[in-house]
Amino acid sequence: MTEIVDPALDAYAAEHTTAPPAYLAELASELEVTLESPGMMVGRLEGRYLEMLAFALGATAVLEIGTFGGYSALSMAPGLAPGGTITSCEISPVHAEFARRHIAASPFADAIEVVVGPALDTIATLSGPFDLVFIDADKANYLEYFEAVLPKLAPRGIIAADNTLWSGRVLDPSDTSEDTVALRRFNEALAVDPRVVVVQTTVRDGVTLIRHAG
Ligand SMILES: C[S@@+](CC[C@H](N)C(=O)[O-])C[C@H]1O[C@@H](n2cnc3c(N)ncnc32)[C@H](O)[C@@H]1O
Repeated sequence: MTEIVDPALDAYAAEHTTAPPAYLAELASELEVTLESPGMMVGRLEGRYLEMLAFALGATAVLEIGTFGGYSALSMAPGLAPGGTITSCEISPVHAEFARRHIAASPFADAIEVVVGPALDTIATLSGPFDLVFIDADKANYLEYFEAVLPKLAPRGIIAADNTLWSGRVLDPSDTSEDTVALRRFNEALAVDPRVVVVQTTVRDGVTLIRHAG
């Protein structure tokens, strides 16, 4: 992933963010040498950012779309209100097995459930309401994920969508790849959607925060 923030500043920001607990550092170390595309993990800075969101919301119900190795789910978990839970959707059985193993070894074994299958199918079985939804799966489906979760978002809930600046590729008109086009479509649709209030933040690869309007 190409950095959109000056790499030295990004590293400085990460260094001045509370370090991850041992179980999360171990997950990251193992994932980097065993799974493909380790750069998909949100990492220390965005992980703590998500935890802060969960904490500020007093979240009792979190939905994650895109588990990968469990780094972001285990990052959000300490921010949950007592008794809070995270449901995390993952299509890859290999990723789900990796995540489940690390979740089981963490203090949040009872708080996080990984559901295997296409996320849109899983979301259809869930009623919510969710205090926090983290969208971080296949980019082509971002608008569909947004439409599926908006009716299930708590009145004061927040949707956070990852990678919405896509290493800056959203700005390059010559980039017509499926993912870039889908993310542009997502960003453009949300900015003018009267149902929601949106802020596009430049954390890591771009994190869009969304809430109900009114
Ligand atoms: C960017 S990674 C998630 C990273 C994770 N949030 C973290 O920070 O560690 C995206 C994940 O979404 C999964 N995925 C892709 N398409 C999916 C789908 N249709 N339904 C559910 N999961 C999907 C991929 O297998 C991959 O593990």
